[in-house]
Amino acid sequence: MTSDPLLALRPWEAPEVTSWGRLPMNAVDRRPGALPLDGDWRFQLLSAPDAPVGGAWSTARVPGVWTMQDTDDLPQYTNVRMPYAEFPPLSPAYRNPTGVYERTVDVPAEWAGRRIVLQVGAAESVLLVHVDGRPVGVSKDSHLAADFDLTPHVRPGERATVRLTVVKWSDASHIEDQDQWWHGGITRSVLLYATDPLHLADVTVRAAFSGELRVDCRVRDTGGALPEGWYVTGELDGGLIAQDTEFDRANVEDDRVSEFLGEVRLHTVVSDVRTWNAETPELYDLTVRLHRADGTVADTSCHRVGFRDVEIVGRNLLVNGERVFIRGVNRHDFHPLTGRAVSYDDMRADLVLLKRFGFNAIRTAHYPNDPGLLDIADDLGFYVVDEANIESHDHAHEIADDPRYLNAFVDRVSRMVLRDKNHPSVIIWSLGNESDYGANHDAAAGWARRHDPSRPIQYEGAAKLDWAATDDASDIACPMYAPLEDCVAHALSGEQTRPLIQCEYSHAMGNSNGTLADHWAAIESTPGLQGGFIWEFWDHGILQRVNDGRPVGRGGAGLYDNGVAAPGHRWAYGGDFGETIHDGAFIADGVVFPDRTPKPVMYEHREIAAPVRIECFKHEGIVLGNHQHFRGLDWLAGEWELSLAEGDTLTAPAELPDLRPGETAVVPLPFEVPRDGGEAWLTLRVTTARDEAWAPRGTVVCLPQVRLREASPLRWENRSGTVEVDADGLLVHPLLSAAPTLSLWRAPTDNDELGGMALRWRAWGLDALVRKAVSVREESGGRVSVVAEYAGTVGVVRHRQVLTPVEGGIRIDEEAELPEQFDDVARVGSVFETVPGLDLLEWFGQGPWESYPDRSGGAPVGHHRVPVDELFTPYLRPQESGGRHGVRHFTLSAPDATGLAIALDEPRQVSVTHYRSEDLTAVTHHDQLTPRAGCVVHLDAAHRGLGTASCGPDTFPSHLVTPGVHRWSWTLRVL
Ligand code: GAL
Ligand code: MG
Repeated sequence: MTSDPLLALRPWEAPEVTSWGRLPMNAVDRRPGALPLDGDWRFQLLSAPDAPVGGAWSTARVPGVWTMQDTDDLPQYTNVRMPYAEFPPLSPAYRNPTGVYERTVDVPAEWAGRRIVLQVGAAESVLLVHVDGRPVGVSKDSHLAADFDLTPHVRPGERATVRLTVVKWSDASHIEDQDQWWHGGITRSVLLYATDPLHLADVTVRAAFSGELRVDCRVRDTGGALPEGWYVTGELDGGLIAQDTEFDRANVEDDRVSEFLGEVRLHTVVSDVRTWNAETPELYDLTVRLHRADGTVADTSCHRVGFRDVEIVGRNLLVNGERVFIRGVNRHDFHPLTGRAVSYDDMRADLVLLKRFGFNAIRTAHYPNDPGLLDIADDLGFYVVDEANIESHDHAHEIADDPRYLNAFVDRVSRMVLRDKNHPSVIIWSLGNESDYGANHDAAAGWARRHDPSRPIQYEGAAKLDWAATDDASDIACPMYAPLEDCVAHALSGEQTRPLIQCEYSHAMGNSNGTLADHWAAIESTPGLQGGFIWEFWDHGILQRVNDGRPVGRGGAGLYDNGVAAPGHRWAYGGDFGETIHDGAFIADGVVFPDRTPKPVMYEHREIAAPVRIECFKHEGIVLGNHQHFRGLDWLAGEWELSLAEGDTLTAPAELPDLRPGETAVVPLPFEVPRDGGEAWLTLRVTTARDEAWAPRGTVVCLPQVRLREASPLRWENRSGTVEVDADGLLVHPLLSAAPTLSLWRAPTDNDELGGMALRWRAWGLDALVRKAVSVREESGGRVSVVAEYAGTVGVVRHRQVLTPVEGGIRIDEEAELPEQFDDVARVGSVFETVPGLDLLEWFGQGPWESYPDRSGGAPVGHHRVPVDELFTPYLRPQESGGRHGVRHFTLSAPDATGLAIALDEPRQVSVTHYRSEDLTAVTHHDQLTPRAGCVVHLDAAHRGLGTASCGPDTFPSHLVTPGVHRWSWTLRVL
């Protein structure tokens, strides 16, 4: 039996114990003036918390998880499943990695007489603190800070040894079962700070849209009774604010308030207040000072204040009275080199990127993110759903009503509220994620409602059974992955009682986010729908060395670029660290790669969120609309571009009209559209007119487009020359290394795999169709007609190709007849391969980034030019990628401008890569892929939408490739 009382308590298997010796949470910022304790600490990894400390010390970096440093306990990824079989509250008794961190601290001599506090930013999952061998405290909740009063334990001017023992598995792990990597360690900064014994214990700022400011201060003295004569003052952007004497009087008269309870209020009304919203996030600087009787300052706390209101009126969530659209994303604290420790610069880069792509909201999935994130959100302008660190996914039902976990639920929600209540960006509290719904949630909701009546609460688990209910722990109906038609039906039902904002939708796993634009078309046109949060921001790929399978760790900066890991490295996902229990690539489901490179969906989103749009093209000109909630267009600059299918791109400066939110205006057509040139598209290239906090001047904001003239039908050249085919009817051409054949298969996307489609396609044999020429006929004028059958396991597709020699090339007319049993296939089209060296694609169509039939709204039609290597999108698990939608014609050329020119009868889905579908299907990671020397070209008559079936709805029926006859025609010429 141990003599250490903290160990004797065995807090890792006692859910009732949420902390011991820990100070109450508060919103006083203690970072300025603190002594940082980050850096290398002495470190030992024990096999279990009660194993003896006594081995050799190594070092570990703080903040940092040991699972990404030099230990044998590596990251493990599970989604729902706990990584061990023990039921709550237990964890594996003998295999419970426990990190012991130790270092000496020289306590500054000038802190004599002061109150000295240790802050551990975050430790997962149980933290035990000792100083000089004496027990100080315990804390749980892996994503909030723990403060401990060290005044009795240390002496200013002397050296103390601080030991932080971090137990990986505990009762708390069962309520931290979020879908992410499991790690162990200290993920946020550790510091020591000092205050006067007389100090600000908490500051609560309420700043309303009306300009009214109330600052409630809680003053305490470590001695107990407060000294006579103390008072508090505030300074808001230089203007002084005094204590609210009415509040003081009322407190004195309240006989429940004992004499030493230091509760005071600062109060003022700011006239002509600059209010805060996500578009114009105006902030004021507030300094709160606690004075001793003689006027000297005992304590100070600084805050950035945003004046704004949040309320729910009927089924609308209003910010400053406006029904704002929530263009959100779910964000984890993640980094490919550190696992979970994120720097201020990293977080700022995350939010800057989101701003540039039109996002205005974040759900801190599924725990309070690093506190720095909220400072940045206040500053750049985001609406935040702040979520408590509660997810008991694997044991949800057992835990939601388990009284042993009651403390933990209330503790986690209340401490989050206490920490984050002063941030204008936080507009909603979330009780957590995927934990069923029980009495523990109601208890936590009750606390939050009473303590902070100024914000609504949401919890998916409460609202999910009945979106129309009003009597549960959620003020918002916040489903996840609800089919769009269900959301619309609910909004139209007349039964809707509260706002409908999906807490997760449009699952971004691999090549995904099909139908995102349809969601937004419905949201913007259906009262009652207000938006949602895409799942999720990050692909959580960890940078891994291929040779020894270890995470690279902090030294890996520079070992990746543009979403791709350097040779000898890869982005690891579940199973890559030798885990036997894991959930594979389900961890790679973000809108950015692990290095924050945006995926193509980001461009789609940017366009969906466009602040200024082309409503239509009328006789008098172009109708422009301002789609923001609060801002005019003066921060934007524009340029017109006119793209002609058979011509150039012309540009002209654009004068943006002065429009208030919701207004439209007609502006004259900036060009004489030339008579020739075929199909014509007008694009308004909108950029920032001046530097914004999140974008330098000239950053693209959106590219709205309108078609001015339709395409004329493809003109066929006169017949001339001959076409050569082999005995099987396959085209022989000097620039093709493989002749065009029929393709019905794509390397399954994650949606295709997890949605079950790929399984069917394989069962039908679509991945290995067997071609058999049925007839090869030479007709008059050199034309060749080839009929072939492509046999799968359950059906045969009849395919006819008519090859006609035309001036300068070949015209190819194709027809494929899909039998009834192939009722949903990936594509119908041609595939062929070119000789090596044709490595530049230039096309007229949608681009320049990747697009698919149900994710093509953000890729404007125009002339685009991209090297073939850069067309391919390296989704973590290789799959169909690199497609371009709506391609009318293209060339593939070598540096000497020789090559191929292809024109299509209609805008078609085209892809050009160095990989065959089977190359992509055969591997699990990019380091296993070898590009082919030539190009693999697909021209599709029809291509299936992407949907989001890896977690959520599939694509819409209109984007399916159905049985029956498909026809397409194209010409092939040599440049
Ligand atoms: C949700 C969950 C997320 C994540 C997502 C799928 O059910 O809340 O944490 O697991 O699905 O990627
Ligand atoms: Mg989950």
